[in-house]
Amino acid sequence: MRRFCLILTLCLPVCMMAQQETLRETVGNYFHIGCAVNSSIVQATDSKANELVRTQFNSIVAENCMKAEHLSPREGEWNWAEADAFVAFGEANHMQIIGHCLVWHSQTAEWMFRDKNGKEVSREVLIQRMRWYIRTVVGRYKGHIAGWDVCNESFEDDGTRRQSPWQRIIGDDYIELAYRFAHEADPDAELYYNDYSMSVPAKYNAVCEMVKSLKAKGLRIDAVGMQSHNGLTWPKLVEYDRAIDAIAATGVKVIISELDMNVLPNPDSFSGAEVSQQFEYSAKMDPYANGIDKRTQDLFGERWQAFFYLYRHHCHQIARVTFWAVGDADSWLNDWPIPGRHAHATLFDRDYNPKPFLKEIIKMYK
Ligand code: G3I
Repeated sequence: MRRFCLILTLCLPVCMMAQQETLRETVGNYFHIGCAVNSSIVQATDSKANELVRTQFNSIVAENCMKAEHLSPREGEWNWAEADAFVAFGEANHMQIIGHCLVWHSQTAEWMFRDKNGKEVSREVLIQRMRWYIRTVVGRYKGHIAGWDVCNESFEDDGTRRQSPWQRIIGDDYIELAYRFAHEADPDAELYYNDYSMSVPAKYNAVCEMVKSLKAKGLRIDAVGMQSHNGLTWPKLVEYDRAIDAIAATGVKVIISELDMNVLPNPDSFSGAEVSQQFEYSAKMDPYANGIDKRTQDLFGERWQAFFYLYRHHCHQIARVTFWAVGDADSWLNDWPIPGRHAHATLFDRDYNPKPFLKEIIKMYK
């Protein structure tokens, strides 16, 4: 018996070292740790990506399959299959399931804003359509979705309202109507606002005023998503730190909702995360097409560790950190704002292997 215990004592640390602890087992003790998943990951149950989602994360968000353009491409027509599969996958793996997104200027089919003659509809008609859309989608997943990105990217970086069709046709109160309709459809679901460039004071101050206005009207809003499509030199950590505090000071939680790191060179006239920007491919703009040298990889690692150090410092204010892809191969940054590049945007490489600095982040949260 004594020899058995001795062998066990010697073997245990080796076994533990061999099995690197996961994000879910470490970071997941501070806040939900999630990732955006696309339908191919959800459906390929035997893939490395699918396994990584199940072992590393405890929360998932639909990258595209719950967007209006996908769910309802034409009036009265619904495509539920991928969204249903996404929800089923999350429930089968006992994960927090996040719906993204209900009211957005992008990826919303044109029919929502136009009548049969192609003319823009009236305020009254669009309010009816918004209510019907939100009640249909949120109602279908009532009790299955923990929280919804209700309004997405309603503000410009200077703090003014984005002149989306929602804003132009309905007016300023489209935001409060969206939160009212979502709460009516599922009173238990958390409701979030989500935007990018949220370390820009003009933007986060405008969002904070909007949050306070919703709360003053007795409307439910639980958290603000700072998308966090970060870079090697932006946002400045001190500004990012201030933004987290400013949002939390309104009484809502902060969600790091679409975390990735754009380490590729940007075209000169690039800014923010406006998805409509597109530029020509060139090898010069794709410097890590054949991998990354150690010095550069270490530089990326230091930047990632700085962000996760900040998130741990703010863990009492942060409800969730969600990566906007499972691994580098899945990142939207491979094709935005320049198609066909090799992004190095996440903590897992193109073969879904952990990058060297993942263990440093895990050590920080043990
Ligand atoms: O599904 C069609 C496919 O049938 C077609 O063959 C193909 C080629 O045109 O397009 C496919 O749709 C693409 C979709 O992703 C699914 O892959 C759209 O063109 C493409 O525009 C869409 O991009 C998504 C983008 O939002 C716009 O919806 C990205 O994957 C997604 O990562 C990105 O995510 C957004 C968040 O929702 C909001 N915050 C910013 C973030 C990054 O833009």
